[in-house]
Amino acid sequence: MRTKIVAGNWKMNKNFHEGLELTSEITGMVNDEINGNVEVVLIPTYIHLNAISQLTQGSNKISTGAQNCHIENSGAYTGEISAAMVAAAGCKYCLAGHSERRLFNNETNSVLAKKVDAILANNLSPIYCCGETLEERNAEKHFDIIGSQVKEGLFHLNNEQILKCVIAYEPVWAIGTGVTASTAQAQEVHAYIRTSLTEKYGIDIASQIRILYGGSVKPDNAKELFSQADIDGGLVGGAALQSRSFVDIVKGAV
Ligand code: 13P
Repeated sequence: MRTKIVAGNWKMNKNFHEGLELTSEITGMVNDEINGNVEVVLIPTYIHLNAISQLTQGSNKISTGAQNCHIENSGAYTGEISAAMVAAAGCKYCLAGHSERRLFNNETNSVLAKKVDAILANNLSPIYCCGETLEERNAEKHFDIIGSQVKEGLFHLNNEQILKCVIAYEPVWAIGTGVTASTAQAQEVHAYIRTSLTEKYGIDIASQIRILYGGSVKPDNAKELFSQADIDGGLVGGAALQSRSFVDIVKGAV
């Protein structure tokens, strides 16, 4: 059985005070209301990570992650943050290849493969994001696009390394739009990703890897999405910025 993950990607939202407040609320609610086996991950902006990691230590269900990292551990890269620094801030996870970074920061699969290496080298788990645009889906290219993103970003890893990875399928057309992929559409892509993992790594390994869905996950659609055979939780944006809606989504995973 794969333990489900519900991760909140706060993107560029919440100042420091608001971030601490949201974390305290979520930690309290998770401790009081969530009994089942689920991992909750908070992914705030870098400069809140240290304090938020410390605040979440009161709950064995909650950990933290960063939204991105640089491929090098240190050096003359003004404005960048390394995976080593993310690890030192108490994180367990680091996103790689969110569609907003692919789009606004020109992150390619080959650069992302190096980010995944840097993340793993620092004993963090990558949450590797993939997903097609609306144009690509309409042209029925989504399986090709997602297949290349997953293969080029992850398939250089050995068995031990791939087992530390989490994959997030986030159709670009569902992010922040209120248009969620149907459960059938999401499950179809998740099954495709798991089949690709099986072809490369074998069924024993593929069946252990968590694949999350992201894109307009809300309290009223979370349970149905997370109950699909190959959907192991969610990567939540907008609805993760409010404690009640986020924890209600977490409930959909238990
Ligand atoms: P929304 O939940 O706001 O659609 O964002 C999804 C996302 O991009 C999470 O990484």
